[in-house]
This record gives sequence, structure tokens and C-alpha cells, in this order.
Amino acid sequence: AASAGATGVIIYNNVPGTLNGTLGNGFTLDIPVTSVTQAIGQQLASTAGLVMRLKADTFRGTATTSNVLAETPGGDPGNVVMVGAHLDSVNAGPGINDNGSGTAAILETAEALQKLNPRNKVRFALWGAEESGLVGATHYVNTRTAEQLDDIALYLNFDMIGSPNHVFFVYDGDDSDGVGAGPGPAGSAEIESLFEDFYAQVGESWKGTDFSGRSDYGPFIAVGVPSGGLFTGAEGIKTVEEAGIWGGTAGDQYDPCYHLACDTYDNVNLHALDVNIDAVAYAVLTYAYSTETVNG
Ligand code: PHE
Ligand code: ZN
Ligand code: ZN
Ligand code: ZN
Repeated sequence: AASAGATGVIIYNNVPGTLNGTLGNGFTLDIPVTSVTQAIGQQLASTAGLVMRLKADTFRGTATTSNVLAETPGGDPGNVVMVGAHLDSVNAGPGINDNGSGTAAILETAEALQKLNPRNKVRFALWGAEESGLVGATHYVNTRTAEQLDDIALYLNFDMIGSPNHVFFVYDGDDSDGVGAGPGPAGSAEIESLFEDFYAQVGESWKGTDFSGRSDYGPFIAVGVPSGGLFTGAEGIKTVEEAGIWGGTAGDQYDPCYHLACDTYDNVNLHALDVNIDAVAYAVLTYAYSTETVNG
């Protein structure tokens, strides 16, 4: 059990029946289940007090949420290409860049894939409760057998890919870009290279970004699944140098509406989204036919 004296608490739970927090105006919360504590994040387990966010004005109580998974009927089930985006938003707003953008890219790619019958199985995941601490993706990874995890050839993640003051960031799987996180599991560098090749082909500049696990790929790299993905920036500030390359406004956040009510349709840069949806399709289609560059 844990208790919190936060200004508020919001709980999403995609493990039905396992999280039954009771919220009162004092914002005391009881979480009797270790799997959820685990899922929400190690920092919660290691601290005496549990601090979460509550939008008491819009949400009160415990919710059950879901991951939405879909896969191609054909393709090698022993060599699965997984593609994910989180479907939830923060409570503050509609979450159109974060993460309607990644969701849209996946839906478009899934639709295009219907006409094909690629060699590998492609599995699409729209994760629940990313914003509550990667709850959905963590639950998925934790409930796979070792063999099921072994069948996943690679994981691609798309979280915020149409930021209004964008940079084309690629997760730095090889740790060569000086952004602080260590290299990802073997094969992650090759995924990074594929996205870099894509941007080169379409004449766009790209830049590495932190690969430390601040989105749904975190649980996958934690168990050694080669991973990669795209990002166009959140609360970070665009530099003068970046504005010279990608345009936009130096000194402003990449997404000034990050986690705010103004993350609406108008918050999306349609050029960035257009380029990145093609990048998603390029990577998924490439790996749907062969993951040899990643897995050998
Ligand atoms: N995962 C964050 C979110 O959904 C987005 C993010 C990823 C921000 C990486 C910064 C770095 O809000
Ligand atoms: Zn977010
Ligand atoms: Zn997000
Ligand atoms: Zn790199």
C-alpha cells in the first residue's frame, strides 16, 4: 500500500481488477497490488510516498484502460515486427500531437499493409496509459512468455511526430549522438540508420535524441528487444542552430502545447506529420519483408 498527499491523482489501470485505489478529497490512495506498482514505475516502489497527478475536476476514481492490438493474419509468427503508439492523452487536453500523431501514422500504415502479404507478421499496438508511467506497454511486456518475447524481431515507437515547432529526431539507438543515454539492445543502431536513410532520401535533416526509455519502447529495450522510433520534440527548447535547419522559432518549446489543453488539431505541423507518416510506412514495410539488417 502507498499513500500520497499530492494535489491529485489519476489512475489508469489496464490490469482489470488489480488496482482499486480509493480517492478522497485528502487524496489518499491505496494500491494493494505489486504488479501495478511495478507497472507504474520503479520510482514509485522505491519511495515511501506515492505521488501521482489528479485532475480531480475532470476525473475521480479508478479507471480500467486497454491496449489495442492488431496483427496481420499472415507472416512469420516467429519473426514479429511490432509497431506502437500510445492512445491515451494527459487529462489536460485532447493530445492530438501527443499522441494522436503517432496513432494516425500507425492506422495509415496498417491500412496500406492490408493490400500486401509480407513475409513477417506485423503487430500494431495502441498502448493505454502511457502517460501514467508506460502502464500499458509494461503490462504487455511483463505478460509475455520468454518465447513470445523472443518472437518479437524488433519494436518501433511513435510518440509525438508532428510537433508544431518540430525537429526530426530519431531515437539514438547507437549512442553516437551525444545525447546521454547508453546504446540500445543490439540491432537498435541499425533501426536508427534506417530512419536516417529515409530522411536522407526525402531531403530532410535529422538529429539523434535521447533513447533512455521515456516512452513505450522503454519496457522493450529493458528486455533486450531491438527498438527505434521517431519524435519531433516536446517541452524542450529549439536552439538557434535547429531553427536554422528546420525553421520554426528558436527559444520556443518544440511543442508549446505539450500536455496542455491547446494540443488540438491546430497544434500539429502537417509537414512534419506528412514526412513522418511516410517514415513510419517505410520502416514498417521494410521490416515486414526482412529484419535481417537488425537480427542478422
Ligand atoms: N513520452 C512523453 C509523453 O508522452 C513524450 C516524450 C518522450 C517527451 C521523450 C520527452 C522525451 O509525454
Ligand atoms: Zn505525453
Ligand atoms: Zn506521448
Ligand atoms: Zn545515433
